[in-house]
Amino acid sequence: MATDPGQSWSAEGYARHARFVADLGSPVVALLDPRPGERILDLGCGDGALTEKIATLAGEVIGFDAAPELVAAARARGLEVVLGDARQLRVEGPFDAVFSNAVLHWIVEADAVVAGVARVLAPGGRFVAEMGGFSNVAAITTALRMVLCEAGIDGTAVQPWYFPSPAVQKALLERHGFEVVSMELIPRPTPLPTGMAGWIETFGMPFLRELPPERHKAAAARAVEILRPALCDDAGDWIADYVRLRFKAIAPAGVA
Ligand code: BEZ
Repeated sequence: MATDPGQSWSAEGYARHARFVADLGSPVVALLDPRPGERILDLGCGDGALTEKIATLAGEVIGFDAAPELVAAARARGLEVVLGDARQLRVEGPFDAVFSNAVLHWIVEADAVVAGVARVLAPGGRFVAEMGGFSNVAAITTALRMVLCEAGIDGTAVQPWYFPSPAVQKALLERHGFEVVSMELIPRPTPLPTGMAGWIETFGMPFLRELPPERHKAAAARAVEILRPALCDDAGDWIADYVRLRFKAIAPAGVA
């Protein structure tokens, strides 16, 4: 995972509540199409679950992540991983491809990230990623904002994530010289194995931290109740309103 001042990562908590993030990553790995002998950077590799899969298909895979706990978990799998901030991508290129799953939306300074990716890719190298796209988790964030508003806080001012439309992300990539080969916005209702309470415990902190710690539990419970009619089915299973933005772009010849 990448950098967000309101978010801390526990490898154990992430594995329990968010294992599905890597489990649902197969389509973007297929779009990457890693080949033997290629050198690939996994930007925001988390605990390395997908990095490990890519490593079985490519020559050399290097992980990169800002969270020390997750970097340690990825290294425990025997992976080579650099600890760092994706806004200042300091890793030795060139790479044949940069891959990223469920990470780019954490970094609102998207321009700096794309500039770094362009710098480390070989001429003609591939940038293949999936991230939250426009309207991702719209119901969940609206509920969290409503809970803040009920506490007298302007919840609309909390904008922790970058969920661009296809047009905005395409324009960003093109400004950095990329040729965009594909760009798809994909609604993907996503079952939550540990329910909405688990999701909010894992990802809701950018909103909850607006309140004193002793009020977090009640605020999370209130958001769960607001969301129940919209996102909990008759069987009691929770489905998050995920919308993915999946793209493939090619670095220009001459950018190294
Ligand atoms: C996502 O993967 O879409 C996501 C995860 C956590 C917070 C926001 C978005």
